[in-house]
Amino acid sequence: MSRILTGVQSTGRPHMGNLLGAIIPAIELANNSKNDSFLFIADLHSLTQIKNPRELKDNTLQVAATWLACGLNTEITTFYRQSDIPECTELAWYLNCHFPYQRLKLAHSFKDKADRLEDINSGLFSYPMLMAADILLYDADLVPVGKDQSQHIEMTKDVASRMNHKYGDVFILPEAILQKESQLIPGTDGQKMSKSRNNTIDIFDTEKNINKNINKNIITDNTPLEDPKDPNSSTIYDLYKLISSQEEAQEMSNKLLAGGYGWGHAKKDFSQKLVDYFKPQREKFNHFINNPKEVEEVLEQGAIKAKKVANATLKRIRKNLGYN
Ligand code: TRP
Repeated sequence: MSRILTGVQSTGRPHMGNLLGAIIPAIELANNSKNDSFLFIADLHSLTQIKNPRELKDNTLQVAATWLACGLNTEITTFYRQSDIPECTELAWYLNCHFPYQRLKLAHSFKDKADRLEDINSGLFSYPMLMAADILLYDADLVPVGKDQSQHIEMTKDVASRMNHKYGDVFILPEAILQKESQLIPGTDGQKMSKSRNNTIDIFDTEKNINKNINKNIITDNTPLEDPKDPNSSTIYDLYKLISSQEEAQEMSNKLLAGGYGWGHAKKDFSQKLVDYFKPQREKFNHFINNPKEVEEVLEQGAIKAKKVANATLKRIRKNLGYN
């Protein structure tokens, strides 16, 4: 049995693209997994960017509520909040002291963020070592991550083997499972859906706001209502296909091709479908947001399980380094 571990960033309420592209597939994998799986909300990493206690807390709640609403089985997966296991910061220090500064300087993610962000702090710089600690603290074998994280996994292996070399076998060397380019989910402007592009669809919003967003923001051409339209160059049709059966998608395609069916109609049909499709998740999500204690309870239970593993590993590591 392999141990699979991954962290998710807590940068606010996930949107339709996050759900369909990443969260739902990850949950299917985690729930079916015969592996021992660990999933945590990386709220210590968030501090590199968020300095508002309320926002920090609220982001964690929104992310946790999303995973739970989408059906993460917390009997199977150890689901916890990174900051509940501060042991990882201790390990991060040990790792920092064994990783060459010159190498850390080569991290693409830092360069990329330093170009974009205003707050370029040391935490942002040593981010990869905290991530390495997240992984090594739990003796993870496999780490599913997006391509953009693969260098961090290489650094994790690098620092772990440096320490193994020095102290004997302290760490298990993890392997990345590189997730394929997640399915491209278009945003309202037809580009990849992302928060920074401001083209997201928030499926946890009220029905009214979902409708409004779709009506107002999805870009269509100005083919007159009666004319035939090309489904394959339409964002609405692309989005509709993602959440409907083949027959339903075919039906919309036929209507568009036939003419007499306007973009307004297509938007209405998509909107309705979307509202229905995510209804169970939206209801559960709202339930959790209104009952944060329940989420808290789940995360605390997760933390108890995680802490046991973390403490055992840390004890081993301290001993190896010559601490009590
Ligand atoms: N850095 C990861 C990201 O941006 C999140 C993360 C933090 C993580 N710690 C981790 C992922 C440990 C995998 C394992 O997506």
